[in-house]
Amino acid sequence: MPPLTDIRACVFDAYGTLFDVAAAARDMQDQLDGQWQPLAELWRTKQLQYTWLRGLGGRHADFWQVTGDALDFALATLGLDAARLRQPLMDLYLRLGHYPEVPDTLRTLKARGLKLAILSNGSPQMLSAAVANAGLEDVFDAVLSVESVGVFKPHPSVYQLAVDTLGLPAGEMCFLSSNGWDAFSAKAFGYRVLWCNRFGQAPERIPETPDGEIRSLADLPGRLA
Ligand code: LAC
Repeated sequence: MPPLTDIRACVFDAYGTLFDVAAAARDMQDQLDGQWQPLAELWRTKQLQYTWLRGLGGRHADFWQVTGDALDFALATLGLDAARLRQPLMDLYLRLGHYPEVPDTLRTLKARGLKLAILSNGSPQMLSAAVANAGLEDVFDAVLSVESVGVFKPHPSVYQLAVDTLGLPAGEMCFLSSNGWDAFSAKAFGYRVLWCNRFGQAPERIPETPDGEIRSLADLPGRLA
């Protein structure tokens, strides 16, 4: 596939794309009775389901609440001790590590003159904690949370936020997400999209197919003309 042309900004999903959503459970694996992977998977799956259910039901709560609710469900399902584990896992969620290639990739793109933004379900407090923990405060032109519109992805008003804030048409921005449903939905909104398919997932069956696929953000600079 030829590189994308006329891109003036890159807009990144946060969780799973820049920050490692499995890190909190992995960091506490010694206390999770060999169940850190099922916990990480169920916590994430339920967290996303709750965003969609709250959106459909018109009962928004911020991502911190939803993340805690999903953790409670996952701990109960797996028979793990919530009284002992909930607080440290939630604390770790504020300090999720970034994927290894993230800082160098962002600095390379910034040096090329591209605008950089985060567009995430995360609450403003969660996003600033993650960005500060990764030492990336100086890199982003905007860190955008769905809290300003009060509904989660993939509502179009979320994708509109980066258009309004950066003052660029969606067609001049490259959206990056490892979450297939987010990548497909951003394409349907009108962004140019590269799906950072870190986990080798099958393509979603929803509108609309991204412009291309990369396996790691390290591949991104080479995919922009
Ligand atoms: C986010 C979720 C979708 O950061 O990962 O928006």
